[in-house]
Amino acid sequence: MSETLVFYSELDPFEQWRGLLAPLLPGVRIVRSCDEVVDPASVRYALVWKPPVGFFARFPNLQLVINLGAGVDSLVGRGDLPDVPITRLSDPDMARMMAGYVLFAVLRYARDIPAFERAQRERRWHYLHPREPSSIRVGVLGLGELGARAAQELARQGFSVRGWSRSPKVLEGIPCCAGQEALPAFLASSDILVVMLPLTPQTRGLLDAERLAMLPPGCCLINVSRGPVVDQAALTAALASGHIAEATLDVFDREPLPPEDPLWGMDNVLITPHLASVALPASAAEQIAANVARVREGREVQHRVDPVRGY
Ligand SMILES: NC(=O)c1ccc[n+]([C@@H]2O[C@H](COP(=O)([O-])OP(=O)(O)OC[C@H]3O[C@@H](n4cnc5c(N)ncnc54)[C@H](OP(=O)(O)O)[C@@H]3O)[C@@H](O)[C@H]2O)c1
Repeated sequence: MSETLVFYSELDPFEQWRGLLAPLLPGVRIVRSCDEVVDPASVRYALVWKPPVGFFARFPNLQLVINLGAGVDSLVGRGDLPDVPITRLSDPDMARMMAGYVLFAVLRYARDIPAFERAQRERRWHYLHPREPSSIRVGVLGLGELGARAAQELARQGFSVRGWSRSPKVLEGIPCCAGQEALPAFLASSDILVVMLPLTPQTRGLLDAERLAMLPPGCCLINVSRGPVVDQAALTAALASGHIAEATLDVFDREPLPPEDPLWGMDNVLITPHLASVALPASAAEQIAANVARVREGREVQHRVDPVRGY
């Protein structure tokens, strides 16, 4: 019986993925789940981004679920997951795209660009002497595939970068600390805080009003992880009071961010619609094919997600 890979995503380009995967997966039929899957029993692999509830139940012989992205919170939290290995994309090009976004957002604050944008709207020449990058303390929460890469790019620009994670990490040139007890001091010494944590039961609401208050007055916050890692109401209040001077937000509690949300109207907030980094078919197709090959050979897959840990 021939094997099938079923694809589901409302955002990603199916034809491009199929065109790249087909030559790497000879003998595997690649279909979209909305198309007729000729024989659901032939489906061995699922390449998915936020499939609907009940999606997996149609495929009794599934052997591998590949999450079409790095963040797996929408997958591991659900109750209808099949008992098969789940992998995520772990792609250097995706990490570079994310690092580019973070670098842009940090440089924008480090070079006082929002102040110049405001001044320009008022036709006002507003000289602010540039600061040394080394005088700006950038804290990166989460030192995984994406966080570590972004921290390194920031360090290369000369910022005083520090990182925080769950377990201790060693990153060349970047002082790192780990665990909840290290968090208050870490927050208190971050002029710019970059949130790059996965959303898990432990990180949900981690940056609540109390922890946001630990940040130095006038700091900037960049969230590219998941909205619920930060208490959005507390963040909005901190931005309104000026305790947090500026924020760049790519992720939100509810997406799309509802039109009535006060964040839209805040002059000190830059909003982007959850695209800091996306799955890149050209560079990720090979690792998907490699994992399919591993399943066929009965070997352990790479970039496996631990549903209990949540990432
Ligand atoms: N906005 C976008 O476009 C976009 C795109 C892709 C991904 N993302 C988000 O970015 C997140 C990070 O991606 P990634 O690939 O870097 O993830 P990852 O490789 O799984 O790394 C996660 C990092 O967070 C740390 N961490 C997890 N739980 C923690 C806790 N309770 N306390 C402290 N540190 C904790 C981990 O610590 P350890 O190192 O000790 O395990 C690790 O350093 C994704 O989960 C996703 O939500 C967003």
